[in-house]
Amino acid sequence: MGIFDRLRKRRLAKAPAEIRDYFNKAAADEEHYPSTIDPRIWHVKLVLEHLGDLTGKRAADIGCGKGRFARIVKERFPTAQVAAVDLAEAMLSHAPPNLQRIAASMTGLPLATESMDAAYATESLEHAVDIPKAVQELARIVKPGGRIVIIDKSAEAWGRLETPEWERWFGRKELEGLLARHTRRVWSQPISYWEDVPPDGLFLAWFAEK
Ligand SMILES: C[S@@+](CC[C@H](N)C(=O)[O-])C[C@H]1O[C@@H](n2cnc3c(N)ncnc32)[C@H](O)[C@@H]1O
Repeated sequence: MGIFDRLRKRRLAKAPAEIRDYFNKAAADEEHYPSTIDPRIWHVKLVLEHLGDLTGKRAADIGCGKGRFARIVKERFPTAQVAAVDLAEAMLSHAPPNLQRIAASMTGLPLATESMDAAYATESLEHAVDIPKAVQELARIVKPGGRIVIIDKSAEAWGRLETPEWERWFGRKELEGLLARHTRRVWSQPISYWEDVPPDGLFLAWFAEK
């Protein structure tokens, strides 16, 4: 291993504390890290569509931030138990108390194996650093037949936005491959914020059935 690889490895090893600090501070920035999202936005519609009817079921929002997606899931399915997991307590403090709020890393989820009917991660996997482990955890907590959605940015659009040094964007095949290790059906598609606006290449959505 060369010097640069060793330095990168050392940087990544201390990343979780740095990342938690970064997002604990970022929680004060409501403009860039909003507590709510318009339910008409395609990202939300795709998550809801793929998760299906969650009446009386369990779902987990992994890397939930202020719980803007989880809040809508709970509003749509009041009898669902919705776990909202995030590394940063300051983000979680904005999430509604009717969610099960859990401060933890997506690379080591304190949720039982096969305990969820569905799990999703929106713009959070890109911060997980150990991406294969985070995808494995996402799949581990979901029951056989359960649904998974990941929404994140495309590696092909890398450079379009400023990013912290640990952030990663993904190729379609890369995440499809990681999901396929743990699930029986996987697909992906480019998406935009609005269903009637052609995707501009920034966002991708991955779907899986375990
Ligand atoms: C860009 S925000 C997205 C939040 C939310 N999913 C949304 O769409 O509003 C990224 C979130 O991922 C969280 N995060 C970063 N690394 C994480 C990790 N290893 N485990 C859990 N959450 C993490 C951050 O604290 C932050 O709240």
